[in-house]
Amino acid sequence: MKIGIAADHGGFELKEIVHPFLISLGHEVKDFGAYTLNNGDDYPDYVIPLAKAVAAGEVERGIAICGSGVGAAVAVNKITGVRGCLINDHFSAHQGVEDDNLNILCLGGRVTGYMAAEELIIAFLNAQFTGLERHMRRLNKVHELEK
Ligand code: RB5
Repeated sequence: MKIGIAADHGGFELKEIVHPFLISLGHEVKDFGAYTLNNGDDYPDYVIPLAKAVAAGEVERGIAICGSGVGAAVAVNKITGVRGCLINDHFSAHQGVEDDNLNILCLGGRVTGYMAAEELIIAFLNAQFTGLERHMRRLNKVHELEK
């Protein structure tokens, strides 16, 4: 799968661990930055280009990381076609895809340890949207708001 990743300074360290981890799983990775640690940088500068790439289909899924994961989640959902969420538990990492067609996993680099993050990422990437009618119906009600 082609996966996009992005992080500000709060998520930089975790992103640098996640990148080779994704490659080790056999994924192709597009890194939207930050490419160096800059404590003055701003998460929208990285996660919004990632979100646009997910919405455009340039990458299949995204992983957006800031310090808490909150700012990243707020920002990516401003882009039409993106369904992003801060995830801290294994169940939500796969159920969010299965029921809600989550396409960007948001993580908190200062909150979630790298081993837990790797397990969340595996659950997220292995999950598929079920496409069941009730989930389509609910998502369509959400997508109506994007028009
Ligand atoms: C940056 O200090 C921090 O606010 C940011 O990484 C993120 O946690 C925002 O939600």
